[in-house]
Amino acid sequence: MCGIVGYVGSELAAPFLLESLKRLEYRGYDSAGIALIEDGKLVRFRRAGKVRDLEHDLHGAAYSATVGIGHTRWATHGVPTDRNAHPHLDCHGRIAVIHNGIIENHAVLRERLENDGHVFSSETDTEVLAHLVESLYDGDLLDAVRKAIGQAQGAFAVAILSQDAPDRIVFAKRGSPLVVGRSEGAAYVSSDVPALLGKASEVQFLLDDELGEITLDGYRILTLDGRPVHRAPHRVSADPVAIQKGGYKHFMLKEIHEQARSVGETLREKLDQGTRLLGMPALEQVDPDFDHIYFVACGTAHHAAKVAEYLWESVLPVPAHAIIASEFRLRNAHITPRTLVIAVSQSGETIDTLMAVRSARSRGAHVIALVNAEQSAIERESNAAVYTRAGIEIGVAATKTFTAQIAALGLIGLALSRVKGAASEAESSRELRELALLPGRIVEALRVEDKVRTLAERLRHASDVLFLARGALFPIALEGALKLKEISYIHAEGYPAGEMKHGPIALIDEGTPVIMLASRGPAYDKLLSNMEEVKARKGFVIAVSDAPEDPNLVRLADEILPVPTSSGISSPILFTIPLQLLAYYVAVSLGTDVDQPRNLAKTVTVE
Ligand code: M6R
Repeated sequence: MCGIVGYVGSELAAPFLLESLKRLEYRGYDSAGIALIEDGKLVRFRRAGKVRDLEHDLHGAAYSATVGIGHTRWATHGVPTDRNAHPHLDCHGRIAVIHNGIIENHAVLRERLENDGHVFSSETDTEVLAHLVESLYDGDLLDAVRKAIGQAQGAFAVAILSQDAPDRIVFAKRGSPLVVGRSEGAAYVSSDVPALLGKASEVQFLLDDELGEITLDGYRILTLDGRPVHRAPHRVSADPVAIQKGGYKHFMLKEIHEQARSVGETLREKLDQGTRLLGMPALEQVDPDFDHIYFVACGTAHHAAKVAEYLWESVLPVPAHAIIASEFRLRNAHITPRTLVIAVSQSGETIDTLMAVRSARSRGAHVIALVNAEQSAIERESNAAVYTRAGIEIGVAATKTFTAQIAALGLIGLALSRVKGAASEAESSRELRELALLPGRIVEALRVEDKVRTLAERLRHASDVLFLARGALFPIALEGALKLKEISYIHAEGYPAGEMKHGPIALIDEGTPVIMLASRGPAYDKLLSNMEEVKARKGFVIAVSDAPEDPNLVRLADEILPVPTSSGISSPILFTIPLQLLAYYVAVSLGTDVDQPRNLAKTVTVE
């Protein structure tokens, strides 16, 4: 949720921290702060607002510190104010703490510390840690942090700086992600790799209940009971260019345009010469006797899972159900050792999905993670992982990871149907031939951009927008509505088109925009009938269609956004593209903060 970064080196810490915080801002962006060791003294700067506001405050100040920590926040405990911004200090301003996650027993700890005379100055759970470390410090910062996290309950990643140990930053992790890295003469700690691209030459992902410190000599990792941890580090392979806008106005637009590549890369590693399905190592351990599949996921990832729920019905002889991860534990889903659970998550860190994975495994299910980030918590807690290869996604609204998830799930479905001995060779090779053409068709689908930009001007005045579709395109209607809501703040709903007459039709008034995904297929004529119903109520029909020249469609639709002809896995991916562009251009036209929409964060690590 929040972004944390720490630096120990020989260069100036403040510019590095500010630059890194900008790279981490997608994790949270309601306040920001840094703490430095300046001439042996701990100094702190923080404020509500974006990193650029903090940078503005610091502008011109020549800090010579080479050790410091920085934080960008997504508020959980306490509203986003200067006072609640991190870093938080102990009573004497000698210890600074930045934190991602939630200290669940903060109230009990706070009461105890206040009774002992500690004075708090914020409403956050994090400040408890600063006072707790202060109360436990007797000359060894690492030991004090170890004891403090031994008392803390909940999920956290922390970095702690102390004036009394000015050459180091102590870190600890439980639940929330944390990575340490090093390069010649410098060491780093961060909640995510993008902050370290182009800086660290190698990184190490921390596991739960590990802690340690970074110094000029690099990093040292220990278990909670003090045993040294030695794992082979990872080379940093991603290019820093991946986290630049590359000439686009927003990351979201860049990421929409990257989809031919991200879908192509996701497919490529699972196909031999683009046409033959390769064995996926993660699927080799699946017991062919599985008799039920559940997908667990949140938000956009849930929509991808829902597409798979539809697609897999025709390739697998067992039922598959997509359940919103936060609901999964509350339901009595029938789980046995013959249940296969697919956890879908771009970040691999979403706590609701992680909890669903834990719950499924504890009940004996075999869990496969489909993740975009390697080494994530969801991957670690699953039996095996398959990857989407979308590259780093910075825009808070998921785009390229969504289409990559559909592509990967499509192939996983085909592979599982082989495990089951159910795949018809002819059908799967037809699907694979279609997929080979998909990247080119995505490029073609993007040509609708100018038309969408013009149409967006009309939609910007809407207060409600309906998205209707049938079959495997229904989840795309849900996703189109979610995208529009997330970044333009216009109320939007996705419905199966057949449901319209059972309620949502009441919303349709003169000029109400109704976006209908009209794919040539078994449900096409029924969708045209639904279009008639919208027209009869004077709704404004926008048809997204692979039959743009059909005279019936031309007669009924006020606007048509064409989509290249396709079928199977390709179709939901191609229908997504105009909807992503529409949400983007409506938001641009309204002047919202497209890449960092209000109240949202890229990775949701609280339940
Ligand atoms: O990282 P995950 O895929 O697990 O994230 C799941 C959702 O939080 C995410 O898709 C969210 O709905 C995005 N804001 C969608 O744009």
